[in-house]
Amino acid sequence: MTRGLSLRLEVFDDAEAAGAAAAEAVAAALSSATRPVLGVATGSSPEPLYRHLARTVTPGVFSDLEVFALDEYVGIDPAHPESYHSVVDRTVSVPLGLDAARVHVPDGSAPDPHAAAARYERAIVAAGGIDVQILGIGGNGHLGFNEPGSPFDSETRVVQLAAETRNANARFFPKEDDVPTHAITQGLATIAAARSLVVIATGEAKAAAVLAMSTGEISVDCPATLLRTHPRAAVFLDRAAARLIPSFEAPDLSERMVMEFHP
Ligand code: F6R
Repeated sequence: MTRGLSLRLEVFDDAEAAGAAAAEAVAAALSSATRPVLGVATGSSPEPLYRHLARTVTPGVFSDLEVFALDEYVGIDPAHPESYHSVVDRTVSVPLGLDAARVHVPDGSAPDPHAAAARYERAIVAAGGIDVQILGIGGNGHLGFNEPGSPFDSETRVVQLAAETRNANARFFPKEDDVPTHAITQGLATIAAARSLVVIATGEAKAAAVLAMSTGEISVDCPATLLRTHPRAAVFLDRAAARLIPSFEAPDLSERMVMEFHP
């Protein structure tokens, strides 16, 4: 990842290759931290990344890793198979052999979710902050569950999910009405405080958000544009997600981003 350039975009043939490269970036960034703290996203985008990490790391290497999930639904039983507690357990903790006591997910079933959100923000700070935050991007440009309009200075808090997000996540539930309406999410300031960001976006459905993130005005209307203000953010894309971005040779883009193609 390059300092001084706001956004690095790396484009790969397919989601597996993008995930493998993102996993290497995560492993490299963690290896330079003394007490590594990793932020993890759920959803489909980072699945190849987690699979690749699990296949390639030496067993036991993550024994002292502290992990913070990006978000959790409000009002969901942590034992529900689609709670982010369960998803993080299934896709990250078990495959990477993590110590469960070091894996943190916001408490969406707390009687007072606002207090739980504030506690979660304090726990991240107490752990020394996040070294590497893994992120996906919503089709509407959200980061975590910071939907369009979320302030860039927001901390971990309770938010209402956009209709588009509930619709996108309906694939994990029997029907759309079963998707929770609210979530606890790390805020945009919480995310931006991570020392490096590894972002993964794959598939046709992300192309418009990737274009807005890369070339649109930096604005709360597209939370992902925040990534362009971070000194160490790298975005791993497949061709489908990158397909709307004009060539990196365009003069108005070259100052703001580096694009590398890995055919
Ligand atoms: C997940 C999260 C979301 C997802 C985004 C993309 O913890 O916070 O921002 O990263 O909605 O989801 P997928 O990868 O399923 O397309």
